[in-house]
Amino acid sequence: MHKCITTENQTGVRLAHRNVFTDEAILEISYMPERILHRDAEYRMLETLFDNLVTAPYEMSQKAVIVGGVGSGKTLLSQYYGKRLEERATRGRRNLKYIHLNCRELRGSLFMILSRIVKRLRPEFPERGYAANELMEILRQIMNEDNAQILLSLDEVNVLIDKEGSDALYYLTRFHEAEPEAPKRLSLICISKDPEVFRKLDRSTLSSLQRNVIRMPEYNRGQLTDILLYRVERAFRKDAVPLEIVDFISELAVKERSDARYAIDLLHGAGANANAVGSQQVQPEHVRKVAVGLFPVLDREAVGQLNLHEQLTLLAVARFFKSSTVTQATTGEIENSYHLVCEERGEKPRGHTQYWKYLKNLSSLDFVKIKLQASSQGRTQLISLEKVPAEELENAVVEILE
Ligand SMILES: Nc1ncnc2c1ncn2[C@@H]1O[C@H](COP(=O)(O)OP(=O)(O)OP(=O)(O)O)[C@@H](O)[C@H]1O
Ligand SMILES: [Mg+2]
Repeated sequence: MHKCITTENQTGVRLAHRNVFTDEAILEISYMPERILHRDAEYRMLETLFDNLVTAPYEMSQKAVIVGGVGSGKTLLSQYYGKRLEERATRGRRNLKYIHLNCRELRGSLFMILSRIVKRLRPEFPERGYAANELMEILRQIMNEDNAQILLSLDEVNVLIDKEGSDALYYLTRFHEAEPEAPKRLSLICISKDPEVFRKLDRSTLSSLQRNVIRMPEYNRGQLTDILLYRVERAFRKDAVPLEIVDFISELAVKERSDARYAIDLLHGAGANANAVGSQQVQPEHVRKVAVGLFPVLDREAVGQLNLHEQLTLLAVARFFKSSTVTQATTGEIENSYHLVCEERGEKPRGHTQYWKYLKNLSSLDFVKIKLQASSQGRTQLISLEKVPAEELENAVVEILE
């Protein structure tokens, strides 16, 4: 049995309908999927660099840098690998800990980073009373006592570099230099969106880090679609999210620098919108309502400057998409809608050629998108509405017409 939720319609009647979600937690950004998609090469690089922590323990202290854009999967990749490495170590009865710390949350402070690590190994350790260099020695002692190895992942390491300059990474990368014969216990992953920040490091720290750089390429549309489909299958009721919606979201996300976080957030928000209005299925309009985001995207002044029939054409687009389950319309479908709009407002519709010019103009002003698609029947133009909810567009045009 699926959970039912109730919403109130405009007349205050409570309606029970089926929740589109079956497990909404899977859409949380912190949720760790069981599979990481399209990052095989990057994952293998981590294996090459750090698997020796279990295959040849204490022999090497390895360092690597992961760089890539917002939502390119840096945090996920590191945590995913770390989790598996820890599991392997546990199976082999080795004391190995993967510790993932976000430098922004720790205000870029080496002291806070070290005390977090010490706390992980010795939860009862007192919070205060030590300086960073003392904590470093305490950590060394504890690791010796426990015969431990640590793979430390410093996420958003740019905040640490900004705050502490070169020093913090200088000490961490040279943790084993004083005693070259001693077992190697600390290895390091540094994660940053911006590779430029590493220029601020002194040359020797930089050179020891940049030997192993893992770059996360931007996802393409198909890859984003796969990432979304994985969540759709696990988080939503069957059939609640048509394939067309997944395509629509990946197209929008590709334009946002291929940010997978943005894509998953859109999917989550669209599902919540569908629930809020009592829809059994996620529709394009639910996606557009999330995609508008915080800032108004509709330029009302520009709508006011359109001529009457351009405004009517825009209204026809809004009407078509308002409750449509498709994300793209043919020019013919929009033209039919235009005729209906003209009839309703007592205007004589213009001929096809003229109508097409209006549409082209609306596209050049970015109100709508026109895409050329080749098919067996020849080439067709497909119209879509991306970031403006059709309802908002309809209201704006009607207001301006009146
Ligand atoms: N290859 C992938 N397979 C499955 N899920 C992914 C993949 N890449 C990213 N994600 C998901 O997208 C979201 C964003 O990924 P992540 O937090 O790792 O990005 P990031 O590169 O660390 O971004 P930022 O620089 O903003 O911190 C997460 O929910 C993550 O699970
Ligand atoms: Mg991250």
